[in-house]
Amino acid sequence: MPDLSTTWLGFPLKNPLVIGASPVGKSIRSCLEAEEKGAAAIVLHSLFEEQLVHEQMGAHYYIDTLTDMDAETRSVFPQSAIFPLDGAAYLRHIEKLKQKLTIPLIASLNGTTPGGWLSYAKSMASAGCDALELNLYEVATDEQKSSQYLEDQQLEIVSSVISAVSIPVNVKLSPFYTSLPYFVRRLYECGVQGVSVFNRYYQSDINPLTLEVDRHLHLSSSAELPLRLHALAILSSKMGLFYACTGGIHSGYDMAKAILAGAHVTQVVSAVLAKGFSVIEKFLQELKEYMLQMGYESIHEMRGVMNLSSVADPHSYERLNYAQMLAAWKLPLSP
Ligand SMILES: Cc1cc2nc3c(=O)[nH]c(=O)nc-3n(C[C@H](O)[C@H](O)[C@H](O)COP(=O)(O)O)c2cc1C
Repeated sequence: MPDLSTTWLGFPLKNPLVIGASPVGKSIRSCLEAEEKGAAAIVLHSLFEEQLVHEQMGAHYYIDTLTDMDAETRSVFPQSAIFPLDGAAYLRHIEKLKQKLTIPLIASLNGTTPGGWLSYAKSMASAGCDALELNLYEVATDEQKSSQYLEDQQLEIVSSVISAVSIPVNVKLSPFYTSLPYFVRRLYECGVQGVSVFNRYYQSDINPLTLEVDRHLHLSSSAELPLRLHALAILSSKMGLFYACTGGIHSGYDMAKAILAGAHVTQVVSAVLAKGFSVIEKFLQELKEYMLQMGYESIHEMRGVMNLSSVADPHSYERLNYAQMLAAWKLPLSP
């Protein structure tokens, strides 16, 4: 039987299937069920900068005061109720989960500006989580702030968390950097242990008749995976970090692709939310079958087989792939 064990953020894991940050983490029963079905680790839902800053300032409704500034901007800003003031409850939740789970538990902190809220990283570590995932979900809206400024700010956040805790820190990344490898190299130099590739950008739609923003959340499909595979293949050939693939894992076959591209683990959310915890056993079985079929005896053996480490000139290779794909398109034959 193939050996599914892997290592992530320094932890030996029984397999590469991790439950990503999601509502699963909110319920102790769900976490236990995920563990029972075979998940190797769990990332908790995020604690948001906005909720912690509100808590620290005692200004519960400052976002809402902006909501109705102008009739046309109505509902552009989220309600503060989205961020319930539960920093302390989150810490108690970690403590309870740690008493019950045997698999590693990763807490998630989500924000974009350096500040006092980052002290929660230390509190999360004290509450007993095994590692931290720092989600730098950023949507640039200010034309005066350069990419350099925003990246420096993100690195400041990461550095202050790393200097405050002794547990591993994993950064959940956006795909939108001019040079992702350069930014990841800077994270590596800061002491980050791993990166999760990538945050999904939740694209709200517009209802042109009601002039309302439609914030309906669509779960992912495997179509989102290639963007991640591409980045993993580049990053894992360059820097010795731990890599998690998040976004578009919907089968054991998808897990195999991510591992071949260089991932140590795959984080699964949409598949579990859509189909329940039985997908965990199913995906692991499919991964085993794939490994048997291909003759891989371990995850270690197959990891990174398809990354760019054997490509002498990755930049030219990428340009060539792109040009070849476009050139290969055949026009339909005329009748
Ligand atoms: C309902 C829902 C809630 C989520 N909550 C969080 C969160 O709190 N923090 C976070 O970093 N990601 C969150 N995510 C993103 C997931 O962790 C994951 O990165 C994303 O869904 C892509 O993985 P998937 O294709 O397996 O769904 C959430 C996703 C969903 C669908």
